[in-house]
Amino acid sequence: SGPLRTHAASRGKFIGTALATGPLSNETSYRNIASTEFNQVTAENAMKWESTQPSQGQFTFSGADAIVNFATQNNQQVHGHTLVWHSQTPGWVQSLSATAMRTAMQTHISTVVGRYADNPAVVSWDVVNEVFDDNGNMRSSFWYNTLGESFIADAFRAARAADSNARLCINDYNVEGINSKSTAMYNLVSRLRGQGVPIDCVGFQGHLAIQYGFPNDLQQNMERFAALGVQVRVTELDVRMQMPRSSSKDTTQATYYRNVVNACMAVTACAGVTIWGFTDRYSWVPDTFSGEGAALIYDENYQRKPSYTAVHDALAGG
Ligand code: G3I
Repeated sequence: SGPLRTHAASRGKFIGTALATGPLSNETSYRNIASTEFNQVTAENAMKWESTQPSQGQFTFSGADAIVNFATQNNQQVHGHTLVWHSQTPGWVQSLSATAMRTAMQTHISTVVGRYADNPAVVSWDVVNEVFDDNGNMRSSFWYNTLGESFIADAFRAARAADSNARLCINDYNVEGINSKSTAMYNLVSRLRGQGVPIDCVGFQGHLAIQYGFPNDLQQNMERFAALGVQVRVTELDVRMQMPRSSSKDTTQATYYRNVVNACMAVTACAGVTIWGFTDRYSWVPDTFSGEGAALIYDENYQRKPSYTAVHDALAGG
């Protein structure tokens, strides 16, 4: 018994969730679980570029501030997500010349990070997100195609200049196990740190699916990154399944959640685990993967699932 956050805190870790501003503004059950169970939050969308700077020079922080204020009221930390990404970035950014794009990136980072630099709740940022393609090559995004790989180092340097205390992360998906993509990430982080680029942490998103199997070398992968001197963390955990739910799928899903939490608990350099939402009522999964869903730890009526118990017991050391 006892909420997830109590157990996580006593192990020196965070247990986080992504928050959506809609239900946060008008659903009591959503707010109650978000505040009671988690000690860290990430904005699911509200801190992204399209939300914070929809047109050039016009910064809008209403959604971001709502998340930060909620976290402050509830003694939670905030992980900023995300500064430089190819998705959810307005068209005006994508069509800039190289010189103007680099300047716009630096202005965006200094303004968004700078807004919260003196706020003790905001402790970390995903500085760049999903810079690799699925083979571990640099993703052919407008960032890379316009600026080359140097946008990555420049983004981290701008973030450090805006907040000397925040932990600065690189974040990606399908890098949980040891594979060509996570090895490309490992090599990039190693190279950047060798060049003195201020990169402090690596985020494994953790968008898993029971039908694709569990990455059994997750802990080993965390350990090789830790040996580079960076923190690791699981940033967007969910475990989807083909619908409908069944008790056997729920059991498999619970095992995956337990395995992820246990891996983080076993690695000193793992700061914590964030789940990408908490209720199946609000999840990106059914919108993206037709016929799949039920990826989270509460059902759509805010009832705890076996995956909740698995996370709880793993955090509690059971
Ligand atoms: O806000 C608009 C609304 O005005 C409009 O009426 C509606 C119609 O579709 O769309 C709303 O925007 C949606 C937005 O979420 C906010 O709800 C977008 O369509 C939708 O595409 C967007 O999806 C988000 C997705 O990132 C976009 O790439 C998901 O909520 C969010 O969970 C997901 O999160 C990403 C992480 O940031 C990075 N890693 C992968 C992860 C899952 O895709």
